[in-house]
Amino acid sequence: APEIIIDKAQMRQWSRSMRAQGKSIGLVPTMGYLHEGHLSLIREAHKHTHLIVVSVYVNPGQFSPSEDLSTYPSDFDGDIKKMMSVPGGADVVFHPHNLYDYGESGVESEMKRDKDGVIVSCVEDRGMGHETWVRVDRLEKGMCGKSRPVFFRGVATVVSKLFNIVEPDVAVFGKKDYQQWRIIRRMVRDLDFAVTVIGSEIVRGDDGLAMSSRNVHLSPNEREKALSISKSLSKAKYAAEKGQVNCTELRNAVIQAIHEAGGRVDYAEIVDQESLEAVEEIKVPVVFCIAAWFGKVRLIDNMEINL
Ligand code: PAJ
Repeated sequence: APEIIIDKAQMRQWSRSMRAQGKSIGLVPTMGYLHEGHLSLIREAHKHTHLIVVSVYVNPGQFSPSEDLSTYPSDFDGDIKKMMSVPGGADVVFHPHNLYDYGESGVESEMKRDKDGVIVSCVEDRGMGHETWVRVDRLEKGMCGKSRPVFFRGVATVVSKLFNIVEPDVAVFGKKDYQQWRIIRRMVRDLDFAVTVIGSEIVRGDDGLAMSSRNVHLSPNEREKALSISKSLSKAKYAAEKGQVNCTELRNAVIQAIHEAGGRVDYAEIVDQESLEAVEEIKVPVVFCIAAWFGKVRLIDNMEINL
C-alpha cells in the first residue's frame, strides 16, 4: 500500500531523501474520486520516473462560492484501492487537510466554514487567509476562464504549491482539461519550475463519454444525452478531416446537436492548440473544446484536430 502523507514538511522531506538516493519523482495531482482517467496518468507517470506521488486534495481555491465544492464527490479509501490496482501503484499519496494552513496561529484553518464545516467562500482572499496568486494572463481568459473567473488562478496557485512541496521531476496532467494542461505548461516555462509537464490522452467510457469525477451526478438519462458531446465532436473531427474547415459551420453543428439533446452549451470553440486563440478556418493544429450543462452537471470535453 502507498505511504499516506498529510503534512507538507514531511512530504518535502520524503522527496528530498528519495532524491538524495538518486530516485526521480513523478507527481499526479488529483482532487480524488479517482476513475480510469486518473489511473491512466499514474500509468503514464511510471514511464518517466522511479517513484510516484499522487496528491488527493479538493482545492477550495479553484471553486467560486456558487460552484460545487460542497458536493464534490470523495472516497479516499476507494481511491487507495484503485491506485493499488495499477502496476507499480503509487509510492506516496499526499493528502493534506488544508494546503492554505501555514500553522502560524496554531489553529487548523483560517478558512471561513459554515455550520457543517464546509468551506464557504474562496473568491479573493475571503476566508482563505491567502493573498498570493499565480495567473497566466492570456491563456486563462477564454473558454473555462470566462464562466469560471477564479478557476485557473486557483489551479495555477495550488499546482505551484504542490510543485514546491513535492518537488517532482515530472508532473502528469490529462488533456481532458486541455486549457488547464496548457496553462500549467506555460506557467512552468514562465516561472522556471524545474518540472517536466506531460500531457496524457483523454480516457473515455465504452459509450464515448469522457471520464470525470462529476459523471456520478448524472442520471442514466442525462448520461445518455450527454453523449451528444463526444458524438458531435467526433463528427466534427471527421468532417474536418474530410475537408470541412469552416469553424463557424463546425461549431454550429455541435452546438445544435448538444442543444437538441437537451444540453446547455457554455462554449464550443475551435482554438489553436498552443495559443488557445479561436480560429476561423482550420489551417494549424487545433483543438475543439466544449463545455455544456446537462441538468446540474457541467461537463467538458475536447478533441484535437491535426489535418
Ligand atoms: P481532477 O479533476 O481530479 O483531475 C486530475 C487529473 O486527471 C487532471 O490532470 C485531469 O486532466 C485528469 N483527468 C481527469 N479526467 C480524465 C480523463 N477522462 N482522461 C484523462 N485524464 C483525466 O484537474 C484537477 O483535478 C485539478 O484542477 C488539479 C489539477 C488537481 C488542481 O487542483
